[in-house]
Amino acid sequence: MRKQIAAANWKMNCTYQQAEKLLDEVLQSEVNLSYGSEVIFAVPFPYLIMANSEVADEPNFSVAAQNCHQKKSGAFTGEVSAEMLKSISIKYCIIGHSERREYFFETNKMLADKINTCLENEINPIFCCGEPLNIREAGKQNNHVETQLIESLSHLSPQQMENIVIAYEPIWAIGTGKTATTEQAQEMHAFIRSVLRKKYSSELAEVITILYGGSVKATNANELFACADVDGGLVGGASLNAKEFIEIMKALK
Ligand code: PGA
Repeated sequence: MRKQIAAANWKMNCTYQQAEKLLDEVLQSEVNLSYGSEVIFAVPFPYLIMANSEVADEPNFSVAAQNCHQKKSGAFTGEVSAEMLKSISIKYCIIGHSERREYFFETNKMLADKINTCLENEINPIFCCGEPLNIREAGKQNNHVETQLIESLSHLSPQQMENIVIAYEPIWAIGTGKTATTEQAQEMHAFIRSVLRKKYSSELAEVITILYGGSVKATNANELFACADVDGGLVGGASLNAKEFIEIMKALK
């Protein structure tokens, strides 16, 4: 059984006080998570230490950064390195979210470097991929996603690859309230697994956790997570509401 994950991507939301409250509410829910599943809070940088200490005694809960710089250190004002994240015991880092690709011009090559710096620092990347609407309308989504996977991940050894979580997030479904249908999600997840099978092996393709992201809510999490190749979700908007997010956690297989 692959690891099932509900990851909350808070993006640039919440004051410190709101963040503490939201974390407390979710942690106090005492949802009975199935064996091997994990809940991850991708919180803004200033809250990482606080969030990590909140989850310290909770074996199924972890914290993620939302980004890191590709270089080890240096004159990059305002940036945060993977080594810094490691030094405060952060377990995961989102890499290549479509908002970073679009607003901060992150390229597949740059993301390959970010993946490397995470792995060197024992941080598990949550690698995001997914197509914009015009590519989906042209029916070219598989090519698009395959290129993202190949250009950012295919240099990794099978051992390194085992530390990656993939998040498929069709851009047209992010923050739009428009969710991919279960058929669209399952089809793309199965395709991603086929790319991994071709490049690596069937064994590896079977163990990689692939999350779906894009308007996951309490009302659609059950049917999305029930898809054979969907191993949970990367949740934006709905993760800012404790009640909603708790329902999504309950939907994990
Ligand atoms: P959304 O965001 O759930 O608000 O669509 C998902 C994401 O961007 O990770």
